[in-house]
Amino acid sequence: MPLALKNKKVVLGVCGGISAYKSVELLRLLTKEGAEVYVSMTQNAKQFVGPLTFETLSGRSVYDEVFDQNSAASMEHIRAAEGADLMVVAPATANMIGKMAHGLADDALSTLAISFSGPVLVAPAMNDKMYSHPAVRANIEILISRGVKIAEPETGELACGTTGQGRLADPGSLMNEIKKLLLEKADLESVNILVTAGPTREPIDPVRYISNPSSGKMGYAIAEKARDRGADVTLVSGPTHLPQPVGMRVLSCQTASEMEALVLEYFPRADVLVMTAAVGDFAPESVLKEKIKKRDKEALHLKLHPTKDILLEAGRLKTRQMVVGFAAESGNLIESAREKLREKRLDMIVANDISAPGIGFQSDSNQVTILTPDGEPECLPLLKKTEIADLLLDRIRNARSGKA
Ligand SMILES: Cc1cc2nc3c(=O)[nH]c(=O)nc-3n(C[C@H](O)[C@H](O)[C@H](O)COP(=O)(O)O)c2cc1C
Repeated sequence: MPLALKNKKVVLGVCGGISAYKSVELLRLLTKEGAEVYVSMTQNAKQFVGPLTFETLSGRSVYDEVFDQNSAASMEHIRAAEGADLMVVAPATANMIGKMAHGLADDALSTLAISFSGPVLVAPAMNDKMYSHPAVRANIEILISRGVKIAEPETGELACGTTGQGRLADPGSLMNEIKKLLLEKADLESVNILVTAGPTREPIDPVRYISNPSSGKMGYAIAEKARDRGADVTLVSGPTHLPQPVGMRVLSCQTASEMEALVLEYFPRADVLVMTAAVGDFAPESVLKEKIKKRDKEALHLKLHPTKDILLEAGRLKTRQMVVGFAAESGNLIESAREKLREKRLDMIVANDISAPGIGFQSDSNQVTILTPDGEPECLPLLKKTEIADLLLDRIRNARSGKA
């Protein structure tokens, strides 16, 4: 089998965290795939794992001193690392994340980081309280805004004995991220993709509304993956708790009619519309200006009217655009999705069974079936929403280029 990362140069930065031992496994996986790895360690990282382990596995000396005895050799090391295809910092401590965010360069690894202009993957690992601290959050946001990829730490039991988010992403999933960053081609370059995400909110009075539990995760994953693959992305988002993605146009809205207006405004210039938003089907006929008082009321009768079907409208208006819908069903999955596909003149529909436990709304994973007007339904296994996003974008790319 050809080695996937042959001729790829990777700088692996290791910081002083309890999970430093896992970067030994990451190094092993990288070299197994043929990558040339240059390891740089902080002084504190050496408290956890000895440089000899990294030197033996990488076949190169570890860069850990700015003021090396042999500074000519050290410069050579820096030059080699500067020409690398990717820099991975795993584990990245709260300290190193702060230094990278603010451009500090007081040791070998942070100096290397600031002199490196290629793609960077940072894999934070720390106690959950540290990870959720506003200072760390703000520093991570700074890195993201500069295009640094963050491999989110996992949630689970932490070395300090607590449970929470902060465990270094597993070396296998870090390898997947690394491969994507090194091998991914910009196969959606200059494709204009309009994505909707999240729920809508239909106000009843100034403090109450009708909504649904959509988290927006699926739509945001599609928008982010499409951006990473070179697309020009517009994300129309209902209210969510997700961080605002960078590198795309993000348009916020609340109600179904606001979402409809934005979609119809941006649809004419789009090549692809992907409607993942859980748009409310009904809205109160009138919105009360004053808060409805509970006092004196035995029952409250709301008169609801149906909202406009944005997907139907897009299917009707489409000229060259490809329109992809999502169908959350609780029975007759394939039949109902097929009917929607036909009725709304869609090019593709992604159906999922919302009655199945642990998937769909709110969850990070889902199990979906993709349907097109001609092909057989494609039933995907249970996958992370980010993985579904990539597979769906593959299908969209193929359909646009006329491939099956
Ligand atoms: C046993 C132990 C485990 C630690 N684990 C972590 C960790 O997982 N993440 C982290 O950000 N800091 C951790 N620290 C604190 C860092 O080692 C400390 O902030 C240090 O200054 C980081 O240095 P560096 O970023 O130069 O490697 C740990 C400290 C100790 C003593």
